[in-house]
Amino acid sequence: MPRAIISPSVLASDFGQLTAECKRMIKGGAEWLHMDVMDGHFVPNITMGAPVLACVSKGVPGIFMDCHMMVSDPAKWVNDIADAGGSLYCFHLEATDDPLSVIKAIRERNMKVGVAISPDTPSTAVTDDVANAADMLLVMTVYPGRGGQKFLERCVPKVAELRARFPDKDIEVDGGVGPKTIDVCADAGSNVIVAGTAIFGAGNPEEVIAGLKATVNTAQAKLSSS
Ligand code: DX5
Ligand code: ZN
Repeated sequence: MPRAIISPSVLASDFGQLTAECKRMIKGGAEWLHMDVMDGHFVPNITMGAPVLACVSKGVPGIFMDCHMMVSDPAKWVNDIADAGGSLYCFHLEATDDPLSVIKAIRERNMKVGVAISPDTPSTAVTDDVANAADMLLVMTVYPGRGGQKFLERCVPKVAELRARFPDKDIEVDGGVGPKTIDVCADAGSNVIVAGTAIFGAGNPEEVIAGLKATVNTAQAKLSSS
């Protein structure tokens, strides 16, 4: 049974205090930190890249960096992100014609592999070969590019479709997820939860993290017994 993992998106943090923000989240119960890398091509914005991630991994020993690569050439950054201490390299299926070779390159650098799909990409675009070679599938619940957007509920059925095909795989949701939208995500079978605004914007992030985790674990227990 896939277990709940909460991955706060640092895009909603105070970038001037990035290492302290990551430590605060880990203290608050987060297992992973979600690092949104944007290149200004795949999406209009630019956020951070390997040099910043290298500082974070140095400043926060043992951190698990869940790197969400919103980049137009995913193969290009594999070595830099691995050298920077990336733990999981999640690239967009829309950005490559050859996902299996990107996966191979990520594996060669001993990172976990994630494959992301944007709102307009159907779950069937994720072939069995690709999914079986990946550790995690990411179903975006907003258009990639910026934090604080409205959750797109129409993306949720894709989570259920992928969960039916891959009962044991990590399935992540990202975008507009928080206490108000977690129920549908958890019931559909996602177990890795990214939340930026909902966690960093909360007065008590530990409570939000614990609530999201409990909802997912309860839903997973129900799904596995049905
Ligand atoms: C959007 C990013 C998300 C974003 C989530 O392009 O991939 O990770 O930071 O932020 P919230 O939770 O605020 O929607
Ligand atoms: Zn993200």
